This record gives sequence, C-alpha cells and structure tokens, in this order.
Amino acid sequence: MKTEINPFLIQQYQSPAYFCDRISETNTLLENIQNNSNTAFFAQRRIGKTALIQHVFHQLAKKKTMTIYIDIYATQNLKAFTNQLANSIYNLYPVNKSLGKRFLEAIKLLRPIISLDEITGNAELSLDITQPKQFEKTIPQLLQFLDQQPTRTVIAIDEFQQILEYPEQNVEAILRTAIAPLKQTSFIFCGSNQAMMQTIFNAAKRPFYASTKNINLHKIDSGLYTQFIRKKIKEHQRTISDVAVEQILILTQSHTYYTQCLCNTIFASNIKNIELEHVYQALNKILSQNEGSYYQYRQLLTSAQWQLLRAIALEGTVDKPYAQQFIYRHQLGTPANVKRSLEALIQKEMVYQNTNLKSPYLEVYDKFLMLWMQHK
Ligand SMILES: Nc1ncnc2c1ncn2[C@@H]1O[C@H](COP(=O)(O)OP(=O)(O)OP(=O)(O)O)[C@@H](O)[C@H]1O
Ligand SMILES: [Mg+2]
Repeated sequence: MKTEINPFLIQQYQSPAYFCDRISETNTLLENIQNNSNTAFFAQRRIGKTALIQHVFHQLAKKKTMTIYIDIYATQNLKAFTNQLANSIYNLYPVNKSLGKRFLEAIKLLRPIISLDEITGNAELSLDITQPKQFEKTIPQLLQFLDQQPTRTVIAIDEFQQILEYPEQNVEAILRTAIAPLKQTSFIFCGSNQAMMQTIFNAAKRPFYASTKNINLHKIDSGLYTQFIRKKIKEHQRTISDVAVEQILILTQSHTYYTQCLCNTIFASNIKNIELEHVYQALNKILSQNEGSYYQYRQLLTSAQWQLLRAIALEGTVDKPYAQQFIYRHQLGTPANVKRSLEALIQKEMVYQNTNLKSPYLEVYDKFLMLWMQHK
C-alpha cells in the first residue's frame, strides 16, 4: 500500500504544493534578485522565514541561478562564518568539474582542508585562517570568485543577527565592503531578532544602513490559510467542517508552525470527516506531549515572570501591558514590576513584541504553551 504523505509539513520545505501563499513576498524577493538588490527581513520565530527562502530558491532553480543558503545561528566568530561560506561554495560546485577545481585553485593559498563530516558523511572544507587581517581579504576573495562566474548567485544568510555576537569589532564593515562591489551576486539577510536586525540595518551610523530593500513577513492571511487547509484535506478525499478550520486558525493565531503542527496532527489521526471535536483531540495530544517542557520553563522563570506570561497567555494578545486594568485583573503588582518581567520575557524569547505594526502588541511566542496556560 502506498503510504500517504501528510500534506502539512512541520519540517523542511518540500515544494510549492505544500506551501501556502507568500506570493507577494516571493515576487518581491525575485524582483530584488533580478535587479541585483539585497533584501533584508526579520520576522518572529517559526513564522516561515526559512521556508520562504527555500520557496524562492525553488523558483530560482528554473532560472539557472546558483543559490547558497547558510544558517549562521551556531557560528561564534568570523572564522566560523568564513568557513561556512567557503564550505557552501565548495559544495555548490562538484570537485571533479572544472569550476570546482578552479575554486580550490583560487583558495589554494588559504590552505583548504577537506574532511568528512562524521555525522552526515559529506565532505567539509575549512580554511586555515589565523590572523584577523586575513578575514578582510578572504571574504571578498570568496565572493569575487562567485561574482566572476557566468551565472548569477544568490546567497541567503539566515539568523544574520548572529554577527553582532562575534567578538571581532568590524564584522559589519568587512561584510559590507566585500558585498558592495559585487555585480551579479545578491543577498538575502534574514533574522528573527527584531532589535538586533534593526540595529544592523536601520541605524544610520552602521555599515549596512540603507543598503538593502526590506520586506515585511507577517502571519499568513487567515482567508488564504483556510483555503489551503481545505484544499489539502480535499486532495486526500477527506472533509473538514467550517468551524473546525476556523478554530484551528483561532487557536494557533495563524502562526505558521503551530497551525501546520495542529493540522499535521489532525491529519495523522486519519479521521475522514474532520469536526471541531477532532481539532481539540489533536490539540490535547500535542499539549500533553509537550507538558514536560512547560514545567521546565516554569522552573527557569521567576514567579513574577511566570505570572506575567500567564496573564498574556490568558488575554491572547496585549497592547497595553502597563494599563491599570490589565495589572489589576492579573494581580501583577506595579507597572515597574511588569516592565522588569516583560523585558526578561522578551529577552528570553518567551514573549514576542510586535513593534512592526501600526498598533504594536505582545503575545506568547509559543502558541501551544499559550494554549496550555489557558487551559490549566
Ligand atoms: N507558507 C507556508 N505554507 C506552509 N507551511 C509553511 C509555510 N511557511 C512555513 N511553513 C512551515 O512551517 C514551519 C516553520 O517554518 P520555518 O522553519 O520556515 O520558520 P522560521 O521562521 O524560519 O522559524 P525559526 O525562527 O525557528 O527559524 C516549517 O515546517 C515550514 O515547512
Ligand atoms: Mg528559520
């Protein structure tokens, strides 16, 4: 029997068939690439940043454009960044082809070391750079190599705000200087930390200021998400009631990962005619699977922080956290107490503060934690 693919992905991007909307963001990114402009965007965690990049790359594959994706979240310094970049270029061109050979030739002086990654079994390249001054030359050299190839290249750097954590002082200047002269290589800089991304791109005195076009990545429109969910379920000869779809989107606040995860669990239960009760059954299953980590969060927060988190969870979204009514309703002490706890919760990425909208608001980052708190 052919195994049925669950159409609601909760891991890697696969193809446009499993991808909902993002049409205008995709078009803007493609347009920027076409015009050799660099794009920056930040959006909250698990909203679909990485999947959007992969979706754009999927379209570029048809246009003979080389694409490089690097996630620098785990890099601690410029050396690790440089090695990751070099390694991804190395993996782009097979070594037995002329370009691969030319690349190795071009970086010969940097004494490339090729080793096998024990876990993935892939060949990994690293450069023997020790002196800080060498970076200032190596990154431009790597990028120049790409820029001189006959095809256009797009480099997406995910979790880009990580460069602010590097110990080296002039990382932004080194990168900006290396990027500026490129003629057919463009960049997508993406990150999930709003404050840090704004520091890099919106501060007038910093190197990346006004060097990119920005896009906003919000939640997927609920009308479009409704159509997507219905369509995917129908394709598998199943049905879902209107209230059930509506409730999925209300419960998960249309936050992509959480919506996908709830739909994935509902689909996995094999129910042919999905009703509201099946939505709650799936949700309870997820919440009880996660309960252990929620108790752990509780250990990691002070009781004032936990109280505030719970208050925000109960409200769903909060636009005036210092208002008397809110503080009184949840017995949160003084506005100063709330301020202190709120800063800690934002910093720990437990609460998301969306300041990118006309009317900013706060919400609990993890929608399942929010729902668990609401039902406890
Ligand atoms: N437009 C979409 N349609 C359907 N599924 C999507 C869409 N965007 C993202 N997803 C799915 O949602 C999940 C979360 O997306 P993704 O990992 O891209 O988010 P992210 O913003 O990069 O998260 P993080 O901040 O944790 O890196 C993934 O399983 C992805 O496949
Ligand atoms: Mg991501």
